[in-house]
Amino acid sequence: MSQLTFHSAGESHGRGCFAFVEGIPYGLAIDNAFIDEQLARRQKGYGRGGRMKIETDKAEVLSGVRRGISMGAPILLAVWNKDYRLDKAPELDCPRPGHADLAGHLKFNAPIRDILERASARETSARVACGALCRLLLKEFGIEVRSHVVALGPVELPADFQATWDDLARADASEVRCLDAACDEKMRAAIDDAKKNGDTLGGIFEVVVQGLPVGLGDHTQWDRKLDGRIGQAMMSIQAIKGVEIGLGFRAARLKGSQVHDAIEHVKSKAPRSDAGFVRPTNGAGGLEGGITNGAPLVVRVAMKPISTLMKPLMSVNIQTGEATKADVERSDYCALPAAAVVGENWLSFVLAQAFCEKFGGDSIVEMKRNYDGYLKQINKLGQPENAPGKHGVSEGGRE
Ligand SMILES: Cc1cc2nc3c(=O)[nH]c(=O)nc-3n(C[C@H](O)[C@H](O)[C@H](O)COP(=O)(O)O)c2cc1C
Repeated sequence: MSQLTFHSAGESHGRGCFAFVEGIPYGLAIDNAFIDEQLARRQKGYGRGGRMKIETDKAEVLSGVRRGISMGAPILLAVWNKDYRLDKAPELDCPRPGHADLAGHLKFNAPIRDILERASARETSARVACGALCRLLLKEFGIEVRSHVVALGPVELPADFQATWDDLARADASEVRCLDAACDEKMRAAIDDAKKNGDTLGGIFEVVVQGLPVGLGDHTQWDRKLDGRIGQAMMSIQAIKGVEIGLGFRAARLKGSQVHDAIEHVKSKAPRSDAGFVRPTNGAGGLEGGITNGAPLVVRVAMKPISTLMKPLMSVNIQTGEATKADVERSDYCALPAAAVVGENWLSFVLAQAFCEKFGGDSIVEMKRNYDGYLKQINKLGQPENAPGKHGVSEGGRE
């Protein structure tokens, strides 16, 4: 068993984007159609530019899978680019504010083109391919991920808007992933308006995960806390500038009694992934002390407006030093709905990583045994023969 890891390679107009995924256990059924479906969802959304009309992203599995089953070996996935023209792509001299153009040019002593090709969010196709693979693993344990858009530019869902799990299944039907018909229309109008004015928009999306067992992540060290790991992962997505877990920033303005979630217990014959401990509210968003608590995980993510502007801001020509307008590349006007799909799949990677740490085995069969044993352990409450001692240690010593 090795740690679940991911590395990407590839450039926006290179041969393609590639995902190197290590640590997927033996015996996972690899559903290529599901991976391709996630890649197709990433290409959608109102406000996209011309590139998504050229590409039809699909993942080619180059290693680590035999007869549709993971081999416990590294898995290499390729998402080939149709718009492959790396050597012929034009050079840029006027760095675009909000991009890696200027900082990368200075840091690497390199042409801007060599920086932007790798900084591009085309790289998220590799992350989605990897995330979809991880999602297949999570599905084996009844864990599902959904998302919707809560704000786009100036348009926000009403503050009291509550999306149920079933509601979230409808988000794909909206081009802006919005569950409220009136807001949906206003969001699309806001994108039209930005596009007309050579401008761009960002917004906020929410990802919800159902079925996570209590106990993923760890309170004992800073870099093992799952909230911290989720924050790092989400912030690493291109254009993401903020992450909230549960009430997040909203909690700062409320009282403790309005934020924290009372604890209740329901009896159940079948072992439950929350051990029967339920919360009437979910201000914590499914995480306490950096550990999942069995409630749905709720992550909100803020995306800045797209940096490439058709009416560009002022910049400086790096060849001449003259003040000039920034260069313009073909670009999206708003990529928030696509970013939500990236968020879903990228969060799945972090969760699968934590899941493999907790229940890790060389094969899915071994993981399932570990998982079932754990569920038995945490579901002991109310069964006298299994009752823990006063300090949570079984009578007669530690198990
Ligand atoms: C799905 C997605 C699509 C994006 N499309 C574009 C785009 O078409 N044009 C653009 O300028 N930025 C786009 N971005 C954002 C840039 O890649 C990003 O802002 C840039 O690389 C600088 O990184 P930073 O914003 O994280 O600092 C996109 C981001 C995502 C998540």
